[in-house]
Parts: sequence; C-alpha cells; structure tokens
Amino acid sequence: MLSDIDSSSNKMEIRLPPGPRGSWLPTMQLIRNPRAALEKWAKEYGDPFLLNALNGPVVVTGREDLIRTIHGQDPGIYAPFATPTIIPLMGNGSMLILEGEPHRRERRLMMPMFHGDRMKSYGESMQQCSTEQFEVHRDRAKRARDNNIVTLELMTDISLEVIVKTIFGGNERELATKLMDASRKVVACSSPLLFFSRKTHLPFFGFSPWDRWRQAKKELFLLLDEVIEKRQQSKSASDDILSMLCLATYEDGQSITREHIYSELMTFLFAGHETTALSMTWAIYHLHNNKAALSSLRKELDSLPDDSPSSLSTATYLKATIQETLRIHPILTETLRKLKSPLQLGDFMLPVGMAVAPATVLAHHNASTYPDPELFRPERFIERSYSPFEYMPFGGGHRRCIGAAFASYEMAIVLGTIIKRYELELVDSKPVVPKRRNVTIGPSSGVPIRVLSNR
Ligand code: HEM
Repeated sequence: MLSDIDSSSNKMEIRLPPGPRGSWLPTMQLIRNPRAALEKWAKEYGDPFLLNALNGPVVVTGREDLIRTIHGQDPGIYAPFATPTIIPLMGNGSMLILEGEPHRRERRLMMPMFHGDRMKSYGESMQQCSTEQFEVHRDRAKRARDNNIVTLELMTDISLEVIVKTIFGGNERELATKLMDASRKVVACSSPLLFFSRKTHLPFFGFSPWDRWRQAKKELFLLLDEVIEKRQQSKSASDDILSMLCLATYEDGQSITREHIYSELMTFLFAGHETTALSMTWAIYHLHNNKAALSSLRKELDSLPDDSPSSLSTATYLKATIQETLRIHPILTETLRKLKSPLQLGDFMLPVGMAVAPATVLAHHNASTYPDPELFRPERFIERSYSPFEYMPFGGGHRRCIGAAFASYEMAIVLGTIIKRYELELVDSKPVVPKRRNVTIGPSSGVPIRVLSNR
C-alpha cells in the first residue's frame, strides 16, 4: 500500500502515474484474470500505471523503452518484492529473496548446475522420462476406456520426474516415486492467496491452506533428510543438485547449511517444474489447434538424422515453436522489483519502497512488435529476432531465470520426442484460455488428447 513508501524520499520530486483506485478489488482482478486486468488498466490510465496491490504499490509497464530502463539499472537499487510473503513459504535461503552480494554469489554457484555439459548430461534421462510417462498415461487412458490423456497431467509428471531426478537424485524407482508424491503434494497445497499476502499465513487446527502447506513441506523435508543421510552413509558419488549443494562451497570456502539447501530446493521445485509443465501443455494445445504449424514441425523433425537430445535441441522450427508458446502464454504475467533508490521511469519519478513491474504479457501482446498477437505463428521467431525488452518469458536483468536454458532444453526434448513418435488429436474443440493457478498462469483445462497412432 502507499503507506509502505519511504517518506524520506523528496516529495517534491515524486511523480506517480495514475491507476485504479483501492487495493482489494484491483488485487482480486489481477488474481482472477491478469492479462485482461493489465490490458484494461493500460488502456484506461496509460502505460505505465500505478497499481496498489495488497502486497504493495507497483508501477507496471509493458513498454520496451521503460523495460529497458528497469532492466538496465544497477541491481543495487532493487530489493526483491514481497519478501515477507515468500520467506515463510520458501525459507530464508531462497534465491528469490536474496539480494546484493549474497544473491550474486548464490547465482554464481548455481548457474553451472543448469547450463552447458551438466545440463546436456540430463538429456537422455529427460527423453526416457518422456516416453515412459507417455506410455504410463496411455495405459491409464486405455483402462479408463475413454482413451483420453490429460496433457497437463502428463507434462506435470514428466517435468516433476525430470526435476526430481535432476535436483534430488532419486534414480531408484521407489525413491523417485516417494519424492514425486511428496513434491506433488507441496505443489497442490500452494494456494494462490499464500503468495499474495502474509495475512493468509494463519493456522486453523490443521485445516487452513497455511497448515496444509506446512504439513506437506514437512513431509518433503523429512524425506530429503532421509535421502541425505542414506547418501552420506553410502558415500557413493552422485551428480544430482542436492549432492552438489551438500559438497559445494562459496568462493570464501564457506559451505551451505541444510536449511539453506532446502530453501533453494523448494525454490527450484516451484520455479522449475510447474512452469515447464504448463508451457509444454500450451505447446501441445497450439500445435494441435494449428495444422500448418504442426505440419512444419513434423517436416523438420522427420528430416533430422535421429531423435537424439542433441538433434532435437538444435532443431530451428522446434525452438521457434517453444519461443512462440512462451510469448503467447508467459507463465508469469509480470516480474517485480522493489526500489531501494528513487527511479526516473519515463516521465515519472518513483520513490523508494515503490515496486516496478515489467509486464511480460503486455509486451508479448503488443501488436506493433508482434502483428496479430493472438495468432500462434512460430515463424515470427525465424523471420526476425526480438530484443530482451520485447521478449522476456524468463524475466530479465540480474534476476533472469537461472533455469531458462535448462527449461528450453527440456521442452525441446520432451515435445520433439512426443511429436515425432505419436500422432495425436485434441479431444475437445472448446478454446482453452489462460487461468491463474498460484503465481503462475496456465491453461483453463488439462487439454485432453487422444493417440491416433504411433508414427
Ligand atoms: C518454462 C519454464 C520457466 C519459466 C517460464 C520461468 C520463468 C521465470 C521468470 C519469469 C523468473 C523471474 C525473473 C525476473 O524476476 O526477472 C524466473 C526466476 C527464476 N527461475 Fe525460472 N522459469 C522456468 C523454469 C525454471 C527452471 C527449470 C528452474 C530451475 C530448476 C528455474 C529457476 C528459477 C529461479 C531460481 C529463479 C529466481 C532467479 C533469481 O531471483 O535470481 N526456472 N523464472
């Protein structure tokens, strides 16, 4: 709320853009239908506009020049947004709430775990997860007799298995299943309200969303304690991220506490699996709703020498399909930073305490950058390239997603494998629209599909 603003900022200089009045109603509108609300406010009040969200005042923009200004600043002027809400959810060590040098050193330590050869070493396992999970879901659909595979459930199982194997290890089936069940429960207990206001973090005899979240998290952490202890006893080397974190030290030789490790693992679990599953579900939906795009992709996949991870990850049309999916449906509609110093943003002077938000969804639907923005047309990413201030599904600046390369690689392997091997059709002809889940936005249905044949 505006009372959060630092009164020591020189009031004469402060100039805020207009925006919707009140706090509860705009927050509810943003929770319910973020893109419609953001587009309506940008039209009514101009871009940028001021939104008094329940978790603090935010100046929102979808303009390329202003996004460039925001991402071009020294990271020292920003603090993370909504820290009081995130700490009780993710813990003190989450990258999402670290700032300054601790944030930089955390990224330096983690970055190599999600890039280059290390990332590519997960390729085979990603492909194996895709085909095994596809067959599991196909069998389940046959047993249910309707033959419908719910794409979102399939993609969630694939991305969960990938992330569980990558970050927690768990190559043994039984352990992987336990970790997946516990992780699934944590995700299922993440009510959107918990992410929007600390005021919702209230116990109620074990029945409140907050109680359910804490219980699910406790069960996952108990399981992880077990995994670490087993690992320490067996002393066998393992190349999952949990093991790397247990052994890793910062540049000053300091090791990471277990509490801090769990905080980061929760962050990776949250930031990493649902985002990827939702994006892959959208890709399947759009491809099967758009015959031209599907046939161009098939043509490319059929011309590859094989469907190995290295071939799939370099296929041009497949990459453009993934980019177009993330353009049309950014999983986070906006990203936020809180000002520690005043910021001149276009004609406005924003005070300390105010947050700024590049609105990805506004930038990605700007018709002057993306003609016919509602059309799913992967070719636009082959015909031209876009600046990081026009296209930013993974955010930008010093907080750009550290899993961006990993997620793009995983999407190429999973989608490439499934599209190359199976002929599918959508069960339902009803349009699927974006709908809020927690902080993420996903498809309004699970996107049921049917297998027509193996290819
Ligand atoms: C399609 C999948 C994904 C999408 C759309 C996505 C999107 C984003 C976005 C928009 C941000 C915020 C950036 C900002 O504030 O400017 C972010 C941050 C982050 N993401 Fe991702 N992400 C995806 C996958 C992943 C994966 C696979 C991981 C790791 C396993 C991951 C880990 C993170 C982390 C740790 C941050 C916080 C970075 C920081 O604060 O320094 N994400 N992601």
